[in-house]
Amino acid sequence: MKKTMKLIIAIMVGIFMVACGNKSEEKVTKIFVGTNAEFAPFEYLEDGKTVGFDMDLIAAISKEIGVEMEIKDMSFDGLLPALQANKVDMIIAGMTATEERKKAVNFSEAYYKANQVIITTEDAKDIPNFEGLKGKKVGVILGFTGDIIASEIDGVDVKKYNAGYASIMDLKAGKIDAVVLDGEPAKNFVKNNKGIKITSAEGEKEEYAMAVSKDNTQLLEDINTALAKLKEDGTYDELLKKWF
Ligand code: ARG
Repeated sequence: MKKTMKLIIAIMVGIFMVACGNKSEEKVTKIFVGTNAEFAPFEYLEDGKTVGFDMDLIAAISKEIGVEMEIKDMSFDGLLPALQANKVDMIIAGMTATEERKKAVNFSEAYYKANQVIITTEDAKDIPNFEGLKGKKVGVILGFTGDIIASEIDGVDVKKYNAGYASIMDLKAGKIDAVVLDGEPAKNFVKNNKGIKITSAEGEKEEYAMAVSKDNTQLLEDINTALAKLKEDGTYDELLKKWF
């Protein structure tokens, strides 16, 4: 009896191992892409669809790689945990490749140079640098690099928001003195809202890259090859022209 049990278990383990083995050799046909579609013009919702520079770029990249893709929209601070839990295969979200994040995930080659800027109301006294935020109430978006930068300056009264839009509303209502945000989304808010401006402060430079889990080196390689190709054949420049 015991022997038959052992045999059955051995066979089942064998079947399981073969099944797993086959699976890992199967060619990937679809990738799940995490984003946070509250970051125009990189990613935002239009008629329930995620659109923007990043969305066009990842569509072109997956076409180049020869895989289908599906966008998973979630909160920005949920993106890295989702990637590490394999709920998504990669992230494209205007995400800055910071040293801290590099400890947790791998980043592709950079695809966009960005900077952090300060937004104030139009009539506010100019804030010529980030040190000028001292003693001020400053809105940031939870987990964005702007949050990290503002929180590191001593004496800044940081107020964290879940989305850029809410911080801009509070700025216009006089509840906060400034907002620290990435340059392009900031320009977008200034364009669509009366009474606010970007100050003369020299922006803090950073680079956006796509994130892939540390053990998925194949996907990282495929992404980088595709990105290089799109830069070479003019597709990337066309997308820049379309969105900026
Ligand atoms: N570049 C900033 C960062 O990495 C903000 C990115 C926000 N992106 C978004 N899709 N909400 O922290």
